[in-house]
Amino acid sequence: MYTVPKLADYSPEALKRAADELEAALNDQIRRVTNEDEWKSFRDRWLSRKNGILTRLNELWLKTAPPEARKEVGKCINRVRPFVEQRVEDQRLWMQAPTIEVVSPGIEVPAAELEQYARRIQLEKEKLDITLPGIPHPIGVKHPVLRVMDEIVAVFKAMGYSVGEGPEVETDYYNFESLNFPPNHPARDTQDTLFIAGQEGKPARDRLLLRTHTSPVQIRTMEQQPPPVRIVIPGKVHRNDPLDATHSPVFHQVEGLAVDTNITFCDLKGTLDHAMKALFGSSVKTRFYPSFFPFTEPSADMQVSCIFCGGKGCRKCKFSGWIELLGCGMVDPNVFDFVKQNGYDSSKVSGFAFGMGVERIAILKYEVEEIQLFYEGDVRFLEQFA
Ligand code: PHE
Repeated sequence: MYTVPKLADYSPEALKRAADELEAALNDQIRRVTNEDEWKSFRDRWLSRKNGILTRLNELWLKTAPPEARKEVGKCINRVRPFVEQRVEDQRLWMQAPTIEVVSPGIEVPAAELEQYARRIQLEKEKLDITLPGIPHPIGVKHPVLRVMDEIVAVFKAMGYSVGEGPEVETDYYNFESLNFPPNHPARDTQDTLFIAGQEGKPARDRLLLRTHTSPVQIRTMEQQPPPVRIVIPGKVHRNDPLDATHSPVFHQVEGLAVDTNITFCDLKGTLDHAMKALFGSSVKTRFYPSFFPFTEPSADMQVSCIFCGGKGCRKCKFSGWIELLGCGMVDPNVFDFVKQNGYDSSKVSGFAFGMGVERIAILKYEVEEIQLFYEGDVRFLEQFA
């Protein structure tokens, strides 16, 4: 630690040597100042009025000097004082704002000093602590709708089904006509179709629309391969439905189709009952309720025993004990007629089909209150599935 020495004599050489030593000590101490607290004791050591180094200079050098040397000693101290004060202040600025923009304007710093500061700042900026843990970049997870869709598909894959896909923009032929919706038949109205504009010049069956269900892929599949067929088709569908808690104009379905010789309604019931137990747990029951679809005969709505109350009746199942989940039925012979040339002779083969809404199943599985949550992309909702 530096203490102010008494001067042996007051010659200009001795004064110069003492001043150089003092500057060396100052430089040495500045290098050790790395934080606010260290700076404060550094400042006090040099500038404190009571016994800081500058005060000691007056006492040890000036007051003891013989009268003839006073002038020279005084000059020396008057040079040292602002120099020390400036260095202490510079160090404060450096501590508080380690950017070069703050150091330069308005503050008088010798060019060499400035360069040194700039260098320090640069080093500070480049400082790299390789022992710090890295910045984590969490990898994404499957969206809950996709997750449920994949789960449904996996259940059927395990039963030997293959997986297919089809276009989201369909022709009237595949979406309606080949599925036994006659032109102008009122059953088309139940599908609230979104049509592509400017198609009036085309024949009706070629007009494009956003598919209202995944059922058109039944026909596309049967066009591609002769029986037997066992396939599931996941995909996005659109309907002109206003958005509410349970409806969205865009949603997802998984379609199923099985065609072979001697396929009966029992196969349909057994297959779907197994699938529901795989999805919701083995205690869930299924029942089939008469319904209508132009492309199945007979048609049914399948219901599952309420997964919330186990069938006792609660608010979620409107106290019926049952929740309606999907549409299904035996493939209508009129549908087979559209693909007869590919081996689908309705006197030889039979089949069943079903279609389920993925969001609806996801809502039940995860007790989601509103369907919009699936589409808003809010991480607070989505991260629950991570
Ligand atoms: N496509 C029908 C719908 O979207 C569901 C369904 C598929 C019904 C297959 C029977 C057979 O409502």
